[in-house]
Amino acid sequence: MHEGLTKNISNSNLINQNVLGLKCRDCGKFFEIGNNYVCDECFGALDVLYNEEKIRFNKETVVFRESTLWRYKELLPFEPPEVILGIKAGFTPLIKSIRLAQYLGLKELYLKNDCVNPTYSFKDRPAALGVTAAIVFGMKYVGCASTGNLASATAAYAARANLPCLIFIPYNTEKAKIFQVQSYGARIIAVEGTYDDANRIASQAADIYHIGIVNINLRPYYVEGSKTLAYEVAEQLGWQAPDVFIVPTASGAMFNAICRGFEQLYNIDLIKRLPSKPVVAQAQGCNPIVDAFKKNKDYVDIIDKPNTIALSLAIGNPGDGTYVIRRLKEKGIAEDANDDEIIEGIKLLAKFEGIYCEPAGGVAIAVLKKLVEQGKIEKDEKVVCYITGNGLKTPEAIANSLPDPILIKPNIRYLEKVING
Ligand SMILES: Cc1ncc(COP(=O)(O)O)c(C=O)c1O
Ligand SMILES: [Zn+2]
Repeated sequence: MHEGLTKNISNSNLINQNVLGLKCRDCGKFFEIGNNYVCDECFGALDVLYNEEKIRFNKETVVFRESTLWRYKELLPFEPPEVILGIKAGFTPLIKSIRLAQYLGLKELYLKNDCVNPTYSFKDRPAALGVTAAIVFGMKYVGCASTGNLASATAAYAARANLPCLIFIPYNTEKAKIFQVQSYGARIIAVEGTYDDANRIASQAADIYHIGIVNINLRPYYVEGSKTLAYEVAEQLGWQAPDVFIVPTASGAMFNAICRGFEQLYNIDLIKRLPSKPVVAQAQGCNPIVDAFKKNKDYVDIIDKPNTIALSLAIGNPGDGTYVIRRLKEKGIAEDANDDEIIEGIKLLAKFEGIYCEPAGGVAIAVLKKLVEQGKIEKDEKVVCYITGNGLKTPEAIANSLPDPILIKPNIRYLEKVING
């Protein structure tokens, strides 16, 4: 397979037959499949290019496949090695909301609960593909730059693949996420600065020490994992796209990948129409994409000092920002939520639906509520909200907004006052 193209590739048997190579998102230049990630003509990002005409994907047989993201292997660059497959990422529940939908006055609201992935965020998806890319290209060391969730996902997949792992995070990353990473055996470099500082150092480390940094030099493959958020939703809705989907956004990679996922399904005739209203949701304390959208600009202004409880979304210089803006100019909405609204969002989701999410999910719910109130999402539109990270990772985000437990002496009679007021 891929004779001649793959001479420097250790495990070319894992590459999907329908992958033609990589293509620059800006100038369209073609590259052979390999571990390059940026166009040498124009510095544009590279995407995996498929021979879509040759893709054979069968709606009837997919239901018999395992409930993981690899059930869409025809639409992904690689087949997974057993160590990666075995962790069973993806195919998370799409939950039809009853109480939150009623509260908001929506007829059809669905919650894509990615809190229940193996490492408890949607980052299992890109990390599974990124670490597989490292295996395909025979890399001996992996890592990532992360606001926390990608860190634990990369570390878990590296552990399964028996690859040493180096994680770059900003120093203020939540404790639970750090403990999770360390438990998987990865080493953490906490950078005294922002995510963007951590990202810059990771990028230099990738070049100097030949580390497979999944979201930098393996990015074309890494981003493919998040397309499965579109595939699963389409399958779970009976091979249909929603009208509206809401994505909590930092770098913009996931939003872009979900859009591409729906487009691919449309191109190969698995869905009959595309979503009409993609929504980017950001935290007000770090909203470069929303800001550019509202000011009708073609580029994003970097936010030097993000200030939000949604630490996982605190990326001031979003790598995919201009691509997201380009998409939003065609169709879509971008809106933000402040910290109080984010906390309210977390509580609404927990109280009405029993899903306990981290602030990124609170951002999605808060933006959903805002757009319904503003009439920008209409009552009878089919809405999917991506809930991308688990609340157990971020207890500090809501600790101060919850009441103390009711303390009683160890005797049942002390309960009476509580129950009867
Ligand atoms: C829970 C969660 N949701 C959303 C995002 C945003 O993803 P992206 O950077 O692809 O926009 C992140 C990023 O780290 C995250 O951890
Ligand atoms: Zn280019």
